Amino acid sequence: MTSSTSPTRKLFIKTYGCQMNVYDSERMAEALAPSGYEIADSAEGADLILLNTCHIREKAAEKVYSELGRLKALKADNPDLKIGVAGCVAQAEGDEILRRQPLVDLVVGPQSYHRLPELEARARQGAKALDTDFPEEDKFDRLGGRARARRGPTAFLTVQEGCDKFCAFCVVPYTRGAEVSRPAEKVLAEARDLVERGVREITLLGQNVNAYHGAGTDGDWGLARLIRELAAIDGLDRLRYTTSHPNDMEDDLIAAHGEVPELMPYLHLPVQSGSDRVLKAMNRKHTAEGYLRLIDRIRAARPDILMSGDFIVGFPGESEADFEDTLALVREVGYGQCYSFKYSPRPGTPAAERAHVAEEVKAERLARLQALLAEQQEAAQQAMVGKSVGVLFEKAGRMPGQLVGKSDHLQAVHVEAPETLLGRIARVDITAAAPNSLAGRLSVE
Ligand code: SAH
Ligand code: SF4
Ligand code: F3S
Repeated sequence: MTSSTSPTRKLFIKTYGCQMNVYDSERMAEALAPSGYEIADSAEGADLILLNTCHIREKAAEKVYSELGRLKALKADNPDLKIGVAGCVAQAEGDEILRRQPLVDLVVGPQSYHRLPELEARARQGAKALDTDFPEEDKFDRLGGRARARRGPTAFLTVQEGCDKFCAFCVVPYTRGAEVSRPAEKVLAEARDLVERGVREITLLGQNVNAYHGAGTDGDWGLARLIRELAAIDGLDRLRYTTSHPNDMEDDLIAAHGEVPELMPYLHLPVQSGSDRVLKAMNRKHTAEGYLRLIDRIRAARPDILMSGDFIVGFPGESEADFEDTLALVREVGYGQCYSFKYSPRPGTPAAERAHVAEEVKAERLARLQALLAEQQEAAQQAMVGKSVGVLFEKAGRMPGQLVGKSDHLQAVHVEAPETLLGRIARVDITAAAPNSLAGRLSVE
């Protein structure tokens, strides 16, 4: 069937988990456009519903089954409705999903999205369609049938996928597979296309994005080189990248933070724990001291950089003293914004087999850590008051005449500003700070 003869069908995608899933959901929508699918804003009335899932913690994975339960009623109303599970739960659980939830017609892992049109056609014919291969071919080559519509001023761009690090707690190396970098030319072409469509800021994505080493025009390029080449694209004003591993923070990447004005002063650099004993048990392959000295070097290159991180509390074997080491590390770094989680045992990972810390101990430690992180976040927000910052305006605010955008440091900023500034960057004087947002007025230049 060709697109000209296909009736229009509605596709609803619900996205869970990390930014890479957000990026992938866009690619899935593009892949299904030639089959006649158009994106819908809600599950009601959709002909195909895809859940793009996350397996990182138990709660994330459970959400999928409760959502599927809710979708049962829609399927009763519309027998033609097809339901698919994509993403990391699909990869981790495969045909188990079909057994556990007969409602599901299609299961597709993250490396097989380019095969979605075929899988959808099989599901339409009444078969159960499953694809959780790690195929040889490059899915990115086959994805991205460009709908050349204009889009918002910010975009994600996956440059690297998968992980070879095997932290003892983490499912990602199993759900996303081995580390693969996309060729630099492909990344540059995609970035140019985004800029032509109105994008001003690109966040480069990878599970281990700073391990990027893609084929460039003159040999292998690391992330620093890629960033420098992207920064030269006319109209691309801001670059960010996430998520990084401390062991892949090479000198040239640190230098880029001081030398490339388009590279924004915000860095998400997870450390997970401040205890060397726990770091070793996690297989992180770095020490707390090594991480702290690395941050010294990053701050020497870019003194105003806002640091962000991830923490896990209650990892198997974590003692009170280990946890206090984590608090000490947090105090020494002074983060702008962080994510923190109770350790969640994941089937198939080495740490899941170990003796676990009691649930109430995890909860108590998480509360203490989060109180400290909230204090630091508030201080970082307050420190912006009186400063002049660049803001990229993304959408209308809640108040009439107000726009909302992101500062260079990735903080939300509310400003009274004309709509003509949407999609553009302006200088803003910050006048007030709340825990999760800033307010300011346009600078008079
Ligand atoms: N690739 C990134 C992060 C991937 S997952 C990195 O290497 O840092 C995002 C965060 O989820 C991790 O940084 C970690 O803090 C948390 N996480 C991963 N597995 C977890 C588990 N089993 N229990 C609790 N938190 C986990
Ligand atoms: Fe998971 Fe990140 Fe560790 Fe890879 S480096 S195993 S993605 S936490
Ligand atoms: Fe979740 Fe998979 Fe991302 S497990 S965090 S959706 S890589």
